Amino acid sequence: MEMSADYSSRAEAATGRDAQPRNGVLTVLGLETSCDETAASVVRLHPTVLGGRAEVLSSIVHSQIDDHAAYGGVVPEIAARSHVEMIDGVTRRAMAEAGLDYADLDGVAATAGPGLVGGVMVGLSYGKAVSLARGLPLVAVNHLEGHAVSARLGAEVAYPFLLLLVSGGHCQLLEVRGIGDMSRIGATIDDAAGEAFDKIAKALGLGYPGGPALERLAATGDGSKIDLPRALLGRKDCDFSFSGLKTAAFRIAQACETEQDKADLADAVQNAIARQLSDRSERALAAYAAEHPHRLFVVAGGVAANKTIRATLEATAARHGFDFLAPPMVYCTDNAAMIALAGAERLALGLTNDVDVIARPRWPLDEARALSDPSHKPGRKGAKA
Ligand code: KG4
Ligand code: ZN
Repeated sequence: MEMSADYSSRAEAATGRDAQPRNGVLTVLGLETSCDETAASVVRLHPTVLGGRAEVLSSIVHSQIDDHAAYGGVVPEIAARSHVEMIDGVTRRAMAEAGLDYADLDGVAATAGPGLVGGVMVGLSYGKAVSLARGLPLVAVNHLEGHAVSARLGAEVAYPFLLLLVSGGHCQLLEVRGIGDMSRIGATIDDAAGEAFDKIAKALGLGYPGGPALERLAATGDGSKIDLPRALLGRKDCDFSFSGLKTAAFRIAQACETEQDKADLADAVQNAIARQLSDRSERALAAYAAEHPHRLFVVAGGVAANKTIRATLEATAARHGFDFLAPPMVYCTDNAAMIALAGAERLALGLTNDVDVIARPRWPLDEARALSDPSHKPGRKGAKA
């Protein structure tokens, strides 16, 4: 976004060193430290006509939720320190559970952004150390690319597909043609969907992270009598906005008197977010179907773990004649298996990185589009990528 072309090209520069897969099979260690999970995973990618079958040999996720709970959100400094403490043990466990030695690996992949840069640097530096010490190719992975391929961890999915990526930091629709080849179709102009869940949950006095807590509360509520704003409805593009909903929900939360009032509001909020995701996706599905013969709609990211949202989007996809796919629940929220898989797919294409590759707090998937058409103006609070 704000970065110069030179900065971005250096970060993305791949050395092109060819991987030497054993019988076409690639085994990769993945590391993820971009937010509040320290994660390591070993994934094996088997070549198939559909572009590869992923076998997860291990996936260890250490959540820092307890470290941050008292603050109601992730504290970057605490996150970075905790990653430093945990990364070695988590990686050793991932290697032990996979039953492999470093000599059995074909490469090491680490998230290089976007995210809290102090944390990103921990995992990326650890990955560089493994790469140098063991003579393994290094792959710097975009965290969002990890989410984009995460559905391929549970099923053999061929490219291309239409993707809705909904997490704590991101809310965007993308056309995914393959690894490193994605175009942004729409994005949030303010908060991400997960961010809206978290902030409204906080206003309701629920714990962090708010999404799962709000989903549990909503199960006992009936929000049908609560009127919440329907942002951007009828707009021709595929962008999202959750700030109006958030403001309205804050106001109603202050007036909640009983637990039932809160549950009713939680239900109304969850339905409003599901409706907006469905409405904007609907536009993208129609436009996509007009131009492409294939019909696959994938939803990924932490918010894809929400059952109401999954069901709503599945119905939306069906209305437009699309197959629907979401990653297995454990791979919706942050994990390193998706980073290892993205790394293996890059490695298969010979897309490796030099050891001077940098950590990036911001790193849009569709860099060209983000530069020419930023989803928010500089100085305004907005989408993180
Ligand atoms: O993908 P993720 O683990 O991290 C990011 O890359 O942001 O997503 C975390 C987000 C949080 O905002 C969390 O509240 C939300 O996903 N989330 C949910 C649910 N599980 C996680 N939101 C709604 N319902 C859920 N069940
Ligand atoms: Zn994520």
